[in-house]
Amino acid sequence: FNVPIAVNEPVKSYAPGSPERKAVLEAYDTYFNSKTDVPMYINGKDVTTGNTRTMSPPHDHKHIVGTYHLAEKKHVDEAIATALEARKKWSLMPWEQRAGIFLKAAELVAGPYRAKINAATMIAQSKTVHQAEIDSACELVDFLRFNVQYMTDIYHDQPESTSDAWNRLEYRPLEGFTYAVTPFNFTAIAGNLPACMALMGNVVVWKPSDSQIFSAKVIMDIFEEAGVPAGVINVVFGDPKMITDTVLASPDFSGLHFTGSTYVFKELWKQIGNNIHNYKTYPKIVGETGGKDFIVAHKTADAKQVATAIVRGAFEFQGQKCSAASRAYIAKGIWDDVKKFVIEDLKSFKQGSPADTNNFVTAVIHEGSFDKLAKYIDEAKADAKVEVIAGGNYDKSKGYFIEPTVLLTTDPKYKTMSEELFGPVITIYVYEDDKYSETLKLVDQTSDYALTGAIISKDRYAITEATEALQNCAGNFYINDKPTGAVVGQQPFGGARGSGTNDKAGSALNLLRWVSPRMIKETF
Ligand code: ALA
Repeated sequence: FNVPIAVNEPVKSYAPGSPERKAVLEAYDTYFNSKTDVPMYINGKDVTTGNTRTMSPPHDHKHIVGTYHLAEKKHVDEAIATALEARKKWSLMPWEQRAGIFLKAAELVAGPYRAKINAATMIAQSKTVHQAEIDSACELVDFLRFNVQYMTDIYHDQPESTSDAWNRLEYRPLEGFTYAVTPFNFTAIAGNLPACMALMGNVVVWKPSDSQIFSAKVIMDIFEEAGVPAGVINVVFGDPKMITDTVLASPDFSGLHFTGSTYVFKELWKQIGNNIHNYKTYPKIVGETGGKDFIVAHKTADAKQVATAIVRGAFEFQGQKCSAASRAYIAKGIWDDVKKFVIEDLKSFKQGSPADTNNFVTAVIHEGSFDKLAKYIDEAKADAKVEVIAGGNYDKSKGYFIEPTVLLTTDPKYKTMSEELFGPVITIYVYEDDKYSETLKLVDQTSDYALTGAIISKDRYAITEATEALQNCAGNFYINDKPTGAVVGQQPFGGARGSGTNDKAGSALNLLRWVSPRMIKETF
């Protein structure tokens, strides 16, 4: 199969004086100072309803950057009907034509839309330019490019034939339509979930997060310009319950591609189960959900390396990556040094608007998240088992700013060691150097999640022990690195237990969930 070889999009530096820095800051200013009206997108047309909500950047929540239109039930019905109509031609389109569209989309993101999509992500989700670049530019491009390669790998996988019987596997899309529910925290995930299902020939109703509308709009513009035909991907905004109830009530619903909270995913699964007798086909269910991601540092670890893993793993994008480190187990022998380096690093961090590229951290996504994190921090301050060793302050007067916070606890089961906070707070437990094996057991038993985790050590026996003891604790396991920053094409991403169905985004394993193959045997 002759397709362009997928390569990872190089990360641009945004150094002072660079053209990309000038372009992204100009795009930021333009968006920030205009009032963008975002319609829904159904059957290839912009749809406005007059029932709107305003959009504000989390780092400047009194400033309005635009409005978006909310669906009524009839719009969701229309999105479903239009998708089913579009399926008649789209599902029969030769795969090269579909691939061509999404490869073009990749080049649009990498080139003409790069500044726009990064600026939209900086405004909507309060990402720094570097965090926007690795997400909405590079990771989105990588998903689009690599999925085409994985698709052809799948199509290539054919059974044996004989001279009198030709066996062919036809990798058809699912019958009916699919539903993509996407999160605020990665623009790349928001783009990938509908795109990879459509690439495999499916038609999609897509509900982006209310906190990501601004960048979702840029994605839709890119898909339209790349040539995704009318009705193949339809975007609806608004009341999640009404939208989901309408989608899941349709007998033609055939697949859910979800990234978001564990609770919501389980509720959707239950709802699908309750409707199971109404569906024409068993729906495929794929979800990437919560995490309580860990770092374990052995007594042989380099203290500076551990500190860097903590600081970058826990605080990039304000700890709102599903992969973010939020609990750490540090051997006592290296703790004093690790603590010193962490505190030193954090002192040099600036927090504020992403428009100031000197800021390493900005605001958390919304007031609900801010209030939840502030409550956890207050409770920790009042608890004798916990000490705040860095940060601990917060202020929502202008933006939802939570200072990067490091808690130290003497109780390895303290609630911030097991509950998902989704913000810039990490809790550390210091263990006796000779209690390594017991500590690994603790890591396994403390959380219901299994998304990412890291072991840092110079001792291969210690690494081997951790790799075995923690085999069910992380779908993405890192040796001597931070637990964030999986790259498409290099580290397929996803976890099990409460963290999801582990269908590895950015891999053939994921794309295989969106096909319903037909086996054809032709006898001569
Ligand atoms: N792919 C993202 C990461 O690994 C979630 O950090």
